[in-house]
Amino acid sequence: MFIQTTRLTLRNFIDNDLESFLAYRNHPEVAKYQGWEFPYPREKAEDFVSSMKEKIVPKQGGWIQIAVALKDTDELIGDLGCRIKQEDVRQAVIGFTISSKHWRKGYAAEAIPRLLEYLFEDLNMHRVTADCDAENVASYRTLEKLGFRREAHYVESFLFHGVYTSEYYYGVLQREWREKSGQR
Ligand SMILES: CC(C)(COP(=O)(O)OP(=O)(O)OC[C@H]1O[C@@H](n2cnc3c(N)ncnc32)[C@H](O)[C@@H]1OP(=O)(O)O)[C@@H](O)C(=O)NCCC(=O)NCCS
Repeated sequence: MFIQTTRLTLRNFIDNDLESFLAYRNHPEVAKYQGWEFPYPREKAEDFVSSMKEKIVPKQGGWIQIAVALKDTDELIGDLGCRIKQEDVRQAVIGFTISSKHWRKGYAAEAIPRLLEYLFEDLNMHRVTADCDAENVASYRTLEKLGFRREAHYVESFLFHGVYTSEYYYGVLQREWREKSGQR
C-alpha cells in the first residue's frame, strides 16, 4: 500500500518503524482504551512489524495494520487497522492510533478518509464500522467528524482490565460516504 495525503504517507510497515511503534504502544495515554498487552513487549513489536510488512491488502477475518508516516521524514506516527468481516465481504471494521506526540494536529482526520476512500471506492465496501470505549472522546469525535453515525451505546458491555466498560458503535454506508465526499 502506498497512499499520500497532504502531510502523510499510508504505507506498509518497514523495519525502521520499530522504535516509534514500540514507543507509542507503550505510552499509557495511547494504550488507555486499546486491547494490546501493556507494557507492550519488544519481541511482540518485532513480530508485528515483520508480519505487517507483507500484508498490504485487507482480508476477511484478520486485521491488517497500515503504517501512518510523516510525508517529509517518513517517521512513523501511528497506524490504521482494518478488517473485513468474516461473514460479509462487503463490510469492514477500522481502528486507528496516532502517537500522543502528534495528537490534535488533524492527522487522524487526514489519514482515515483515505482509508475510507480505498475501502469504499477500490474495494467496493457497502459499510464500514468502528467501535470505541464510551469515554474515548478523541476517538468518537474523530469518527463523528468523518461522518460516522453513532448506532449503538452498549452499557457495561466489555470487560476490560477487570472492569465492565461501555462502548459506542459507529457506522457509515458507502452511499453516505459518497454523498459526503461529493460535498467536500
Ligand atoms: C483518536 C486519535 C487517533 C485521534 O487522533 P488525532 O490525530 O489527535 O485526531 P485529529 O487531530 O485528527 O482530530 C479529529 C477530531 O477529533 C477531535 N479530538 C481529537 N482529540 C480529542 C480530544 N482529546 N478531546 C476532544 N476532541 C478531540 C478533534 O478536535 C477533531 O475534531 P475537530 O476538528 O472538530 O476539532 C488519537 O487520540 C489516539 O490515537 N488515541 C489513542 C488510541 C485510540 O484510543 N484510538 C481509538 C481506538 S477506538
